[in-house]
Amino acid sequence: EDVHIPSRRVLITGATGLLGRAVFKEFNENNWNAVGCGYRRAQPRFEQINLLDSIAVHDIIHDFQPHVIVHCAAERRPDVVESQPDAASQLNVAASGNLAKEAAGVGAFLIYISTDYVFDGTSPPYKETDVPNPLNLYGKTKLEGEKAVLENNEDAAVLRIPVLYGDVERLEESAVTVMFDKVQFSNKSANMDHWQQRFPTNVKDVATVCRQLAEKRMLDPSVKGTFHWSGNEQMTKYEMACAIADAFNLPSSHLRPITDCPVVGALRPRNAQLDCSKLEMLGIGQRTPFRAGIKESLWPFLVDKRWRQTVFH
Ligand SMILES: NC(=O)c1ccc[n+]([C@@H]2O[C@H](COP(=O)([O-])OP(=O)(O)OC[C@H]3O[C@@H](n4cnc5c(N)ncnc54)[C@H](OP(=O)(O)O)[C@@H]3O)[C@@H](O)[C@H]2O)c1
Repeated sequence: EDVHIPSRRVLITGATGLLGRAVFKEFNENNWNAVGCGYRRAQPRFEQINLLDSIAVHDIIHDFQPHVIVHCAAERRPDVVESQPDAASQLNVAASGNLAKEAAGVGAFLIYISTDYVFDGTSPPYKETDVPNPLNLYGKTKLEGEKAVLENNEDAAVLRIPVLYGDVERLEESAVTVMFDKVQFSNKSANMDHWQQRFPTNVKDVATVCRQLAEKRMLDPSVKGTFHWSGNEQMTKYEMACAIADAFNLPSSHLRPITDCPVVGALRPRNAQLDCSKLEMLGIGQRTPFRAGIKESLWPFLVDKRWRQTVFH
């Protein structure tokens, strides 16, 4: 029996991570031949490639000959980047530049995933042409990664996105889902940041944007350079926590909004809202309402599922 193998090939780095899993699924389900790479969690589903190993990177790209590469792998925890700056820079900057060079060698379209943390958050919303000014080392390494990519591959794309949520393996995997236990264990009061303005974005929406961008580029070689994508619901973490409580009919009176600028950890931009009109003008985009998206993602982690019976009986 003939097995249909799609002719369009995509390689996804970080396919074991929060965003990469969604990107792999999106391409795989839309008639692309997708190969995912991971590192520590790669086995058994994905290729195990250390992106710091330039020979392994060269070999997989030359063997697979992808038309598109979506580069999701990175060290993205700001506090880890501050404590291990050299390792973070190797992955976020040097490995990204090398991947861009290898992509150029086989004519593959590279999409480098970047962050709203390249901006200082003082004059939102930010267009692709606005001057970045990262406040913390994570933002700096991601911005240097953007430059390394575009220097090595002038036909590549940079896609900047804000804080992500989606189907998580553990609640700690996303800065949004990690709040769930504080929300559902309402016997304890919990302080929640009400200073930083965020735009929580569903990984499925970013994955769709990556596929649409790749498909647009297959038709039009002028599609390249820097792009922004973001959800459009502005919320502090306190407001996200209240929305989560509301979505599951849980109390929120134990949640306490903290309006002061946080003093611990890496510096964060107050409001790095991304202007997405450039992608919208190309007809690209998808936005899942936060309440629906977060409910779907958190449902498996709901401890008290009793209320479900009142719905179905
Ligand atoms: N999460 C957010 O809120 C957010 C916000 C804005 C932008 N971003 C950007 O979005 C992208 C995806 O983030 P994410 O949240 O999906 O990250 P993540 O869940 O932390 O996943 C990181 C990925 O990088 C891989 N990786 C780490 N070291 C590697 C190495 N030496 N060689 C090969 N692969 C390696 C990991 O593989 P193993 O686990 O298998 O080792 C994993 O698949 C990143 O570029 C990040 O900067 C994320």
